Amino acid sequence: MLIPQPLSYAPAPGQRTLTPQTTVAAPAEIADLLRELLGPATGLPLADGGDDAELVFTLDGTADLGEEGYRLTVDGTGVRAVAGTLAGLRWAVQALRQLLPPQAYAATSVTGIAWTLPYAQIEDRPRYPWRGIMVDVGRWYQPVSWLRTVVDLLAMHRMNTLHLHLTEDQGWRFEVKRYPRLTEVGAWRRESPIGHENIKQADRTPHGGHYTQDELRELVAYAARRGVTVVPEIDLPGHTTAAIAAYPELGNNPGTQLATGTRWGIYDTVLNCDDATVQFMKNVLDELVDVFPSTLIHLGGDEVPPAEWSANPGAQARMKELGLTEPEDLLGWWISELAAHLREHGRRVVVWDELVGRGAPAEAVVMAWRHQDYVSAALAAGHDVVATPCEHVYLDYYESDAPGEPVSIGGLLPLEKVYAYQPEPDEPPAGDNRVLGVQGNLWGEYLPTVGRAAYNLLPRMSAVAEAGWGTRTELGDFRQRLDVMLARFDALGVAYRRPEPYPAAQ
Ligand code: ACM
Repeated sequence: MLIPQPLSYAPAPGQRTLTPQTTVAAPAEIADLLRELLGPATGLPLADGGDDAELVFTLDGTADLGEEGYRLTVDGTGVRAVAGTLAGLRWAVQALRQLLPPQAYAATSVTGIAWTLPYAQIEDRPRYPWRGIMVDVGRWYQPVSWLRTVVDLLAMHRMNTLHLHLTEDQGWRFEVKRYPRLTEVGAWRRESPIGHENIKQADRTPHGGHYTQDELRELVAYAARRGVTVVPEIDLPGHTTAAIAAYPELGNNPGTQLATGTRWGIYDTVLNCDDATVQFMKNVLDELVDVFPSTLIHLGGDEVPPAEWSANPGAQARMKELGLTEPEDLLGWWISELAAHLREHGRRVVVWDELVGRGAPAEAVVMAWRHQDYVSAALAAGHDVVATPCEHVYLDYYESDAPGEPVSIGGLLPLEKVYAYQPEPDEPPAGDNRVLGVQGNLWGEYLPTVGRAAYNLLPRMSAVAEAGWGTRTELGDFRQRLDVMLARFDALGVAYRRPEPYPAAQ
């Protein structure tokens, strides 16, 4: 009953039970992970054993299992896992955990349970190297404990990427030591909308918060132990009202003091095109790459209205210098300047799909969000693509149109539609570029609390996981496996939206 479904899963008659005498032979990282994940619920010491250990995890460079594949066998002789990489062994640990009763996910000791494992042989590897969830902490600050929970959820789904959307019009959450006002001013807003945007009401309550670099380093390390990479996003040159409120010289109307955004929607406010502003953001990125070791760094680039550039003499001069005829093309210039800087750090840029045909750097990974058609368009333009089309994987959308759903941004995205998602376009691209994977995006406007975020995330995240792993079975089988996943969520203590019974009552 695994999610995602392994590539091959062969059950066999019989089971074995982990006991206080069970010992482990594994690389230190893996033995530590086993104890960190299984210790709290089971209380089992899982002490180091030698050649005759019951649980044996082996790194084998000759294992032909890819970057993240593993083989896991539970039989009369013990439990043996083999992988070519630590990443593969980590997924073997997660698979083993799913073979145990769901109570194994509890954060505190569970008594009266036999920690049995069914005999089975699993051979497994993902189809796509990027399987992610984006969390928007710009709209509403969320505690680091929630981000750790998301990492836990990712790892249990054998998903490897947490995309952290750290900056927005309504809040800048990343501590920048050189520019303290980004968080002193930009992390706070005066008030927030109540209910839906079209109801013009405000809560008259200041909201804010930010993450220190040390907190984020700890999160990155916590995620790395579980095989999850944190990809940070600084969204620019649009979605920057909070930054411009903190440092008005970054904007197109430096004599004007903006406030950090207090409404949702797209803002006209964008960064100006001055050398000093580009340098400012390079300095921000220098601190960002010092905190986040991820090779890939997301620079946003979505929803950038050109109106301010059309009216700004500095931006007009920049267009002339570059020989551009449309202000929209300043977007590609902005991103290319910073992509070159990231390249000097050995990093590669990720951008939203607005950059396709608007000067995306050749090496940019494109995150296709506006529609599945943009997956094809970005591939045709020669980019590697992460598929996040809103109609299939925007987890901030309503899950049902039945009365009683909590207010969401809009849209309708039932679990079944997420599950049916196929990221690959019918026509494969001509070059080496490819679909890197699938990611669910959890935009934050209408998810002010951890409970609301969890409700929208789960269990649709389980469907995203399986679309990314690439081993979907038919829906009825998924729904049976999902029931067990819900029991794991219960044990973890995370809230979720209980899906309608399946099959639906006639
Ligand atoms: C986006 O949804 N604006 C990327």
